[in-house]
Formats: sequence, C-alpha cells, structure tokens
Amino acid sequence: NWNMSSFIDEKIKHIREVVGDKKAICALSGGVDSSVAAVLAYKALGDNLTCIFVDHGFLRLNEAEEIYNIFKEKFNMNIIMIDAKERFLIRLKGVCEPEKKRKIIGEEFIRIFEEASSKIEGAEFLVQGTIYPDVVESGTKTSATIKTHHNVGGLPKDLKFKLIEPLRELFKDEVREVGRKLSLPEELISRQPFPGPGLAIRVLGEVTEEKLNILRHADFIFREEIKKAGLDKGIWQYFAVLPDIKSVGVMGDERTYAHTIVLRAVESVDGMTCDWFRIPYDVLSKISSRIVNEVKGVNRVVYDITSKPPATIEWE
Ligand code: XMP
Repeated sequence: NWNMSSFIDEKIKHIREVVGDKKAICALSGGVDSSVAAVLAYKALGDNLTCIFVDHGFLRLNEAEEIYNIFKEKFNMNIIMIDAKERFLIRLKGVCEPEKKRKIIGEEFIRIFEEASSKIEGAEFLVQGTIYPDVVESGTKTSATIKTHHNVGGLPKDLKFKLIEPLRELFKDEVREVGRKLSLPEELISRQPFPGPGLAIRVLGEVTEEKLNILRHADFIFREEIKKAGLDKGIWQYFAVLPDIKSVGVMGDERTYAHTIVLRAVESVDGMTCDWFRIPYDVLSKISSRIVNEVKGVNRVVYDITSKPPATIEWE
C-alpha cells in the first residue's frame, strides 16, 4: 500500500539527513526521472543543490529553453546550462556508424559533466533518477545490449561523488505520480520516451547542423498535427527520422533533389516490443503536405509500417 505523500516526506527527510549542510549536484536531462529526482532533492536541499543541464544540441524544437524555464523560473532552482552544441558536432564530424555515434555522444557527455561538476565547490553528492526497472534490467538482456543506451542516469560509478537515488524503488507510473504531487508540469510528466543521444540518432549517418534543423522542423509539425488530431495521449512514441538519402521530385516546373522524411509512430507497453500505430489517412495526408510545403529541403514523406521485432523503435 504505497502512500505517495509519506514517500515524499520520507525521502526529503532522508536526503537531508544524508547530505547535511554539504552540497549536491544533479544531471538534468528534461526526462521524467531526472526531473522528479531533482525537484525532490531541491525540496530537501534548496540552494545546496545545483543542477547541471548539458545541451548537446540534439533536443527537439525549443526543448532546452522549456526545460530551463521550468526549473529556473518556476522552481527557482540553481541550474547551470552548458551550451555544448559545437563540441558535439565537432566530435561527430564524419562519423556515420550508429554505435560509434552513440559511444562518442556518451563519452563527450561524461567529459562535459565532469568538467562542469568539478567547478562546483564542495559538491560531494550526486542525485540520480535511477528507477526500479533500471536496477533490475541491468544484467538481463534488454535492448540496451542491442544498442548502447545512453542517458544521464548512466554516469560512471567512479565519479568522485556519493550517489543519492531517491527513486530506486519506484516504477515509472509511481515516478509520474510523485512528479505531479511535486507540481511538475503535465507536459513534462507525460512526455514520450526520448533517447539520450536525441536527434543525433534520428539523423541517420553523419550529423550536421543543417540536417538537424530540417529534422527538428519536420518533427515539430508531426507532433503538432498529432496533438491537433487528439492522438497524442494514445501513442507510445511518435517522431520523425531523417534518412541519409535524397530523391527526385518536382515543384512547379522545377526538378528537385531533396531529403526524405520518415514518420515513425508506435504502440507499446514497455518499449521492448511494438506495433506501428494506425494513424488515420487524413491525418497522415495533412502531416505530409505540411512537411513538404513548410520544411525547405524536403520533397518526400514516408510512413514506417514495421513492428518490433524485427525492426527497433529508433532507426539507429
Ligand atoms: P529501440 O530503438 O531499441 O528503443 O527499440 C527502445 C526504447 O528505448 C529508447 N531508446 C533510448 N533511451 N537512451 C535512452 O534513454 C538511449 O540511448 C536510447 N536508445 C533508444 C527508444 O526511444 C525506445 O523508447
């Protein structure tokens, strides 16, 4: 019989006891788990908590600003925003192989986090949003063994900090409930799963700023139309992918040779398997015409109708 309010009170008390008047840091990603852990720790520690948000440049349209506003403006938390867009793009230049891309992004993320955290004087504790499935899944064969998963919960254990993991016993639904109780905005709480390496693994092959911008714009239109159609609550994940191909098209009297956008939308219970979501044709039609009309550099839109297995949810 799980009681949320007493859970929150107990955790706050516990974090206070453990940290005392020392300092703690937290890596924020904007995902549900790290956000809930951060706010819980903030309730316990106030200004003795500093959150570090590394903007790798692979977030969706306006997402970095939205996250900053929630934690800085709404909660008034100490948050350090690191603009690392250039650094990541430089490291990824010429790199096309998916596993290599994931590895580079994971390593660079840790390096930047270490640099930033070493500048916070007196910080001894690290707050992480590890949840129960993360604890049990490490060790079993999951998609993490098929793809190198990267997220901010995956910082190396040999960082010089003592770990605080207040959500370790909770399932995702319970984490969401705690988040609601702590007044985190619903958009953040019910956010669809988003991979740590972000849009860098949805721009297939080499990642460039130009491709990221095309994808971000198309993805925004896709999400906007799904929401308008009232489908956003019913789909596990829906996003755009930019494959590394161009195809021939026609616009007015002109021949075009431009990018293709792939739409991916899936139904799933836990992300381990999925079926492709049956988006109504008229909604697909609207999305397609908006993308080719509004996103410069795109002349074709296709819909992914593959389940998992044999495909995976993400393309890389
Ligand atoms: P796949 O593509 O393996 O994805 O079918 C299964 C689920 O995991 C998400 N995903 C990730 N999540 N870090 C994450 O935190 C990652 O590196 C990562 N890669 C994939 C994916 O979006 C889907 O929900």
